[in-house]
Amino acid sequence: MRLTVIGTGYLGAVHAACMADIGHDVLGVDTDTRKIEALAAGRAPFFEPGLPEILVRNTRAGRLRFTTSLQEAADFADLHFVCVGTPQRADGLAADLSHVEAVVDGLAPLLTRDSLIVGKSTVPVGTTRALARRVAAQVPPGIEAEVAWNPEFLREGFAVQDTLRPDRLVLGVSSPRADQVLRQVYAPMLQAGIACISTDPATAELVKTAANSFLATKISFINAMAEVCDASGADVVTLADALGHDARIGRRFLSAGLGFGGGCLPKDIRAFLARAEELKVGEAVSFLHQIDRINERQRRRTVDLAGQLVGGTLDGQRIAVLGATFKPDSDDVRDSPALAVTAALLDQGADVRVHDPEGLDNARAALPGPAYCDDVVETCQDADLVLHLTEWPHYRALDPRELAQVVRSPRLLDARNALDPTAWRAGGWHVRALGRPAHVPQPTAAATMRVTIPQALGPVCAAAPTPG
Ligand code: UDX
Repeated sequence: MRLTVIGTGYLGAVHAACMADIGHDVLGVDTDTRKIEALAAGRAPFFEPGLPEILVRNTRAGRLRFTTSLQEAADFADLHFVCVGTPQRADGLAADLSHVEAVVDGLAPLLTRDSLIVGKSTVPVGTTRALARRVAAQVPPGIEAEVAWNPEFLREGFAVQDTLRPDRLVLGVSSPRADQVLRQVYAPMLQAGIACISTDPATAELVKTAANSFLATKISFINAMAEVCDASGADVVTLADALGHDARIGRRFLSAGLGFGGGCLPKDIRAFLARAEELKVGEAVSFLHQIDRINERQRRRTVDLAGQLVGGTLDGQRIAVLGATFKPDSDDVRDSPALAVTAALLDQGADVRVHDPEGLDNARAALPGPAYCDDVVETCQDADLVLHLTEWPHYRALDPRELAQVVRSPRLLDARNALDPTAWRAGGWHVRALGRPAHVPQPTAAATMRVTIPQALGPVCAAAPTPG
């Protein structure tokens, strides 16, 4: 099939490349000439594992081309995916739909045949209906264009895999014809048995908002538990493991620490709150205010704990920060908790050095002030405290003994609960983490003994470590 993908940011570039990879003839469109030139040359304009390979493969095969011209897009196909950003508005709440509106305003008058315009960006519920009216008012006489919504659930760092093998496809359509076209687009995935839910556009829009709100709720829930653990001497990692064994809860998205950031979860819950207010159901989702507050609180808790660890004041202390991006396997620093903590450390007079494997350029542009280093040892040189803020695999591979030799004081605050505290303590470090006891109790032999219960009576179980 011939299709266009309008907007070639994280979402659009990956969607365009993956659609070409499953055999479609794809034209990617963006107003940013530099991005288009890079993509056309098979270069990804941002770090995303697996993307360069499929860009090269499909541009070379001629199935994937790029342009800055909406006229070319209108001439090329009658199926258009809209993947432009829906950032937070300057007022800090509602979603800014100006990019989506600019695309449909630009495209609709250029259409020369009946078309299907499919939004993929995260938008407030009700957007498809409003856009359909906008399109209908602008298409040339005799032309019909349906607007459908097909939300994307990809995670940065896993974007290619999530696009080619999503957990589910959601098609928000207003006609059987649109449903049929989209099922044809995704035929290889449907044949592979991927679940596909066809519904109305409003439900499809809401699936995405609800999914991100639920994920944010899970993270803030476990972070709230981490604070209770800190007050009571309990261990949030063991707590999450034990909770996660309950299939109704599940272990994923229960990693306590510095909380969520990035271009999606924080802005999506705020936009949802704003939309719910407009719909006069603000009270029903008001708990999301608390989810947001708990999340912001983790950043303050991390800075406070850092201050305590260096003896009360951060002023003049040399702090080594490991990680700048909002999560590993991404160079994205949008609403990065790591950079928010770094900014607060600087405000309090700390001398901060930051390392990140992929995000240094973006971090430099977003937050001038700290020294940015591309070497961990240099970052940690003479540090009074090492702060682990983004859980890149690189940091798990560090040798704590070696690093202890270069710092001034071997003190580690693992704000992601991703480093092995036993190994770091054995390497000579004083280790603290959010929601974990300062000294992890060693389980007694009796407490960890695996007890085999006859199958008829129940599963094999292990007693939890007891403080001792
Ligand atoms: C998210 C959704 O997962 C995805 O489905 C949607 O399409 C876009 O938004 P993404 O922003 O790429 O994806 O990152 P995600 O992996 O969800 O992580 C979001 C944030 O939550 C990160 O800052 C991460 O560090 C944090 N997080 C995640 C936790 O703090 N704890 C966890 O257990 C999981």
